Amino acid sequence: MHKGLFISFEGIDGAGKSSHIQALEQAFVAAGRQVLRSREPGGTPLAEKLRNMVLHDSMDPLCEALLVFAARRDHLNQVIEPALQRGDVVLCDRFTDATFAYQGAGRGFDWQVLVQLEHWVQDLPHGGMRQPDVTVWFALDPSLAAQRLRAARLPDRFESQPLSFFQSVHQGYADRATADPDRFVQIDASGELEQVRQAVLQALYARGHLTNQ
Ligand code: TYD
Repeated sequence: MHKGLFISFEGIDGAGKSSHIQALEQAFVAAGRQVLRSREPGGTPLAEKLRNMVLHDSMDPLCEALLVFAARRDHLNQVIEPALQRGDVVLCDRFTDATFAYQGAGRGFDWQVLVQLEHWVQDLPHGGMRQPDVTVWFALDPSLAAQRLRAARLPDRFESQPLSFFQSVHQGYADRATADPDRFVQIDASGELEQVRQAVLQALYARGHLTNQ
């Protein structure tokens, strides 16, 4: 039986992570793994309701932080932990680093309070804290990401923020990556889709999480 593997995907809006998660799912399935693809905020009926509020209702940064962590708690309990126990690969579109980047660095909410909430929500009963085994960070110049977004769709509460917000969010990701360099894989997301896809696959081969058939 396989050991569970938890991979999260991060980046500012417009960095283009979603299409790569799908490609990676195919690679893991081809390697014979059971894959669970999910997202945050979201991933359970309750967490999806909370997501809807966070993305569309106006609220202060503390409310945002509490709601995303409440959603995360339910997601961990109902979906992520059982999947990891089964030995599945969990591919999660955003996780806790997004809270530090968006609510912490972006909104300016107290980083230490987020650290506390992270412990409350992610501490494991027998010690240690649940974190992804790997976090793939699609790093992209915020002005380039803004250009991509403008072409794409109607913005939600976050996507409609000014460039300076995304510069702060980008810095928030950079700070989290510096604090946990073994977990983070930084991918240059400025290239062509295929080039970025290859970079993600290579990073996972290099770490032994995917093996060449
Ligand atoms: P996103 O993951 O980009 O999904 P979609 O591709 O459907 O737009 O949207 C989620 C948004 O929620 C994104 O703008 C970042 C924000 N967010 C937070 O502010 N805090 C969090 O903890 C998480 C997980 C997401």
